[in-house]
Amino acid sequence: MYTRSSLLVFLLGLTIGVMWIQAETQQPITETCLVCMCQALSGCNDTAVCVNGACGIFRITWDQWVDSGRFTIEGDSPLTDSSFTNCANDPICAANTLQSYMVKYGQDCNDDETEDCYDYGAIHYMGPFNCKADMPYSYESVFRRCLRDALRAEKRQKAN
Ligand SMILES: *[C@@H]1O[C@H](CO)[C@@H](O)[C@H](O)[C@H]1NC(C)=O
Repeated sequence: MYTRSSLLVFLLGLTIGVMWIQAETQQPITETCLVCMCQALSGCNDTAVCVNGACGIFRITWDQWVDSGRFTIEGDSPLTDSSFTNCANDPICAANTLQSYMVKYGQDCNDDETEDCYDYGAIHYMGPFNCKADMPYSYESVFRRCLRDALRAEKRQKAN
């Protein structure tokens, strides 16, 4: 026989567990969006490199990495300096970092009443407090072309 209180404790534990899993797996950025972000930032060149302190295919900065909760590749400690470059230079770890960053800072930057890839591209490049500014031309043109091509490819696939 279950007592009423043990059932309540069980349900509470279950609820917290489910909430925790949801928080862990929240991934606002679509796969297509990630690809277009790295296209615009680095041409998705996965050679380990830092440019002015911004590392990896998504050119992630130390501040973003810390702000996102210091994701690490397996075996690294979140407390060592090399963990940042190791994570930023690992596409999966870097993507997880960006997902977490957008869970925290995602917003509608261009006032089109949706929070979407375009906003994430702006937030990542210009920062969450400056994302309403115009994107630099070279970044925006690659980013937009990539998204447009992806949308076309998706439509073609649906039509077939
Ligand atoms: C990728 O980046 C590295 C380091 O910056 C560079 O040497 C290499 O030429 C790049 N590869 C391509 C295909 O652009």
